[in-house]
Amino acid sequence: MTAFHHIPVLAADVLEHLTFPAGRKVRMIDGTLGGGGHSALLLEKYPDLELLGIDRDEMALENAGKKLGFAKGRFQLFHGEYARMREFAEKIGWDEVDGILLDIGVSSPQIDLPERGFSWRHEGPLDMRMDQSSEVTAGRVLNFTSEEELCRIFREYGELRSAAKLARAVVEKRQNGFFGTTADLVKLCDETLGKSAPGKLPIPTLVFQALRIAVNRELEQLEEGLASSLELLKSGGRIVVISFHSLEDRIVKEFFRRESTGCICPPGLPVCCCGHKALLELPLRSKAVTASKEELKNNPRAACAKLRVAEKL
Ligand SMILES: C[S@@+](CC[C@H](N)C(=O)[O-])C[C@H]1O[C@@H](n2cnc3c(N)ncnc32)[C@H](O)[C@@H]1O
Repeated sequence: MTAFHHIPVLAADVLEHLTFPAGRKVRMIDGTLGGGGHSALLLEKYPDLELLGIDRDEMALENAGKKLGFAKGRFQLFHGEYARMREFAEKIGWDEVDGILLDIGVSSPQIDLPERGFSWRHEGPLDMRMDQSSEVTAGRVLNFTSEEELCRIFREYGELRSAAKLARAVVEKRQNGFFGTTADLVKLCDETLGKSAPGKLPIPTLVFQALRIAVNRELEQLEEGLASSLELLKSGGRIVVISFHSLEDRIVKEFFRRESTGCICPPGLPVCCCGHKALLELPLRSKAVTASKEELKNNPRAACAKLRVAEKL
């Protein structure tokens, strides 16, 4: 089994905001189990907690299963997408839960293992699948997607200004042979868009982020996962979401804002005609929690993390 080193991000804040009453059985879903770091802390803190853990990465599940061994009988793990959390909950007879945690994004082993193809800093296959049983790899997206769609992916998911230029270059380049490795793509980025401006994120970071989001359908997963969470949470139950880039954080913030608002009719209507009801309240209002200087010293990967919390009314 490959060693799995992942430091749970904002761990103290998760424990502060995802709390459960003591002395009665409580249930939670960890939709992004990863190495099981957050789940282990929660299972340790709450002896009456039962946990349903989900990850689309089998390597993560295998490792998390070992880490959580101390809580045998109190957790069940599922391989799949957290957007399917209701289906997994039904399978074990749960119709509501007291808490949900989504720590979205990639785990350290996913980034650090060159063979997973997530990082432009390591040469490896153009893979980027969190779920290695799925068919769509980054290579497939790059080699077979239309120029128009590639442009959309680079623009929307990478927020790349020169998306059209890069999409054109990809399509021209692949006429002379397929893209095989992460290095092929980095070379094309350098040749087409030149070096990144000082102080800005490196262009390959944005391009790789865009492809990763497309390969794993990350934004759709988040939207579906949030909607399912709302249905599964019982009154007083909390959802905590940690996101790592502005596209994800915007979705979480918008969802929490809308679902904590009563009427969402366009301004100026004399009477409400939407019938929308607030289902959530926001203990931190619209504030997000970020990592302290101390945490960043031990774990620079927490730098972009934003934690948001909502409670079901
Ligand atoms: C940042 S790590 C989670 C780390 C974990 N909280 C811990 O403390 O070890 C994110 C994990 O979520 C998984 N993941 C990301 N998106 C997912 C999705 N839509 N469905 C299921 N798992 C997902 C990834 O495979 C990865 O293992």
